[in-house]
Amino acid sequence: MKREELTEEICKNLIRKAEETLPYAYTPYSHFKVAAALLAKDGRIYTGCNIENAAYTPTNCAERTAFFKAVSEGNSCFQAIAIVGGREGKIERFCSPCGVCRQVMMEFCSPKEFFVILAVSQENYRIYSLEEILPLGFSPKDLSD
Ligand code: THU
Repeated sequence: MKREELTEEICKNLIRKAEETLPYAYTPYSHFKVAAALLAKDGRIYTGCNIENAAYTPTNCAERTAFFKAVSEGNSCFQAIAIVGGREGKIERFCSPCGVCRQVMMEFCSPKEFFVILAVSQENYRIYSLEEILPLGFSPKDLSD
């Protein structure tokens, strides 16, 4: 999508869905809860939360949970993702996606036409293109060109 197509209404709705998902974050180890709401090109929204594990490394971030839910249901074309998070589920500052999640975004999304919405609330958010948060990213194109 184009940045101007990402309306305030769309952003607020995605942020609300992410906020609603935050309580489901399974975080007995870090107590840092993250949730995401991923907007597919067909208008469907896939939510996700982080899911931790006693062995630590199997932990899945909120963003990847949302992507993997969508892809596993046959949906792999996306427009935007909203992310909220904070210690004990208190959203006090912007929660930026980790490098691994940025790379997963790169697998399925156009860097110039996929947008990451970092939110503290429905009134306080910032929008970045994937290209802005992952410059010079490696994508499936690099394997085929
Ligand atoms: N986490 C996410 O879910 N998404 C991010 O973008 C950053 C980190 C999770 C992983 C772990 O469960 C907790 O936050 C602390 O790193």
